[in-house]
Amino acid sequence: ICLMRRLRNLHPGRKFGLKLRSSSTSATGTLPETKCNYEDFIDNRQQQAKCSILVQVSSERSYPELYNYCSRFGSIVNAHHYCLRHDDELNYILLEYAREEEASAAIDAGGVTDEMSGTPVRSPFLWFRASTGKKKESISSSTMPHPGLLSIDGCRPIGQENLLSLLRKAENIDRQIVELHQNSQLNDLGVRMRFLAALQIQQSISGMFPSAQAVPFGSSVNGFGKMGCDLDLILRFDKERGAKNHQQTEPSRLIYHLKENLSNGRSQTQRQMESIGDLLHLFLPGVCHVRRILQARVPIIKYHHEHLNLEVDLSMSNLSGFYMSELLYMFGELDTRVRPLTFTIRRWAQSCGLTNPSPGRWISNFSLSCLVIFFLQQLRQPILPSIGSLVKAADADDFRVTEDGINCTFVRDLERLNFQSRNTSKLSELLLQFFEFYSQFDFHNRAISLNEARSLAKPDHSAIYIVNPLEQLLNVSKNVSLEECERLRIEVRNAAWLLESEVENSSSVKEGNEHPETIWGLLNLFKHPEKTIVRPNMFFKPRMVEVSDLFENGMSPTGTPPAGVTYKNP
Ligand code: CTP
Ligand code: MG
Repeated sequence: ICLMRRLRNLHPGRKFGLKLRSSSTSATGTLPETKCNYEDFIDNRQQQAKCSILVQVSSERSYPELYNYCSRFGSIVNAHHYCLRHDDELNYILLEYAREEEASAAIDAGGVTDEMSGTPVRSPFLWFRASTGKKKESISSSTMPHPGLLSIDGCRPIGQENLLSLLRKAENIDRQIVELHQNSQLNDLGVRMRFLAALQIQQSISGMFPSAQAVPFGSSVNGFGKMGCDLDLILRFDKERGAKNHQQTEPSRLIYHLKENLSNGRSQTQRQMESIGDLLHLFLPGVCHVRRILQARVPIIKYHHEHLNLEVDLSMSNLSGFYMSELLYMFGELDTRVRPLTFTIRRWAQSCGLTNPSPGRWISNFSLSCLVIFFLQQLRQPILPSIGSLVKAADADDFRVTEDGINCTFVRDLERLNFQSRNTSKLSELLLQFFEFYSQFDFHNRAISLNEARSLAKPDHSAIYIVNPLEQLLNVSKNVSLEECERLRIEVRNAAWLLESEVENSSSVKEGNEHPETIWGLLNLFKHPEKTIVRPNMFFKPRMVEVSDLFENGMSPTGTPPAGVTYKNP
């Protein structure tokens, strides 16, 4: 706090964030006293990335020397250390300067060396060469005060054993849910690293496209991301046709000549993405394993960033996905129970193999979040409002339309929405109610509408139908097979059965935690930790297996295999 005060005095007008890993910090690293608008959050993080450089060092001990060296370019206000391998082989320090020009000066001062081969590229990814002899002495003997180095396991998710032990020690199920959320959510450094990856893409094409924006969306920024989550990135060449542009009083009379489209919109995008893929592969430091998946509904380029240990999905035509992330972010901000509950449900789904890191015929994390939101909307005392009411509350400033004409207008200012839930249920009660609700939900005939906060008649034969809130003719969970839907129904029933007695007797639980070894509460739901059910690829010949085969020792989590149910592989 003292450091923050000092920094605020030094740089009035600039925002400095505290990085506390406590219950008071929100998933996106901001302090939650005031609800932060999504666009402000994105702008602040983009600005922070522009003020940052990432320097590879030989060890954490290089920090004072690095700090002294880099201070010649400007004042350093934040420093984070992380290493990418357990043997401490790859060490990095992320430095944040007070101003963008200072970070730029540091990058401009970067040089090349004969020690390495390759094409030198100007980027915020640098390494710190060890100094020699006399010079080193003069630098290291300097005693400049420097901001404390936050050394955290920046990019490592909490280990399964540590998490289970924390859950075992918690006082009750509500605390377990909070602990799970706090210890698995993406931290401040994780968000910084993701915005730095975005900036690298943006800067690489800024010569030709000065207004281009590479903006993170999805779980990296919507507050539902866990440590180690992938980065979804959208690259846009132009500014959007949104409210900000509409405010322009007199449109310019000087108009850019356009590059005529060589083919139709979709194949044009695919060809442009091919070139961007080549650019990433050939020129961007840290970017490796570039793969082009251009035939998908939303064409993407996938790559790994070796300095950030990050998997990235880059798209150019998924603006509604970007605005969908804004909606999720807003729902998370509206009620503090939304994110912990969603984290718990995602974790439960992962442990019983309902979700899988690779896309397929199983339910995705995004669809699960939609199920949670819908459940919270349809309660007798709703915890979340319908999307329809967000649209109704919008004014001219909220007007947004994507390049392909999708209307993404809804109220952005949460204060103006004026929604206050009167529901006082505890997290454990909501968790149980979630499982009970979906145990009984008529997936066969009903579709889920977050826009209307009620179920509708299902328009087609998809196993699960969740109306895409922004593109209402699409089904968010179209990919889910009947078998996977059936497994979901079995698992929600099992989970409800497992939790029922414990939640009902929750007043008498775990005072002083006398039996840390016992399996109770959430631990019951996570009995198959991190178990990913390996399903044959959909191109494999189909075969029938018993559902019980999917569980350890042939038993379902309840101890009895669900009778008479067969699971047909996709
Ligand atoms: N999205 C969407 N419609 C879909 C799938 C995705 O609008 N059918 C948008 C959502 O905003 C979602 C984002 O694209 O948050 C990224 O999708 P995805 O990576 O699948 O989900 P995440 O929310 O990022 O979750 P995860 O942590 O599993 O990556
Ligand atoms: Mg994602």
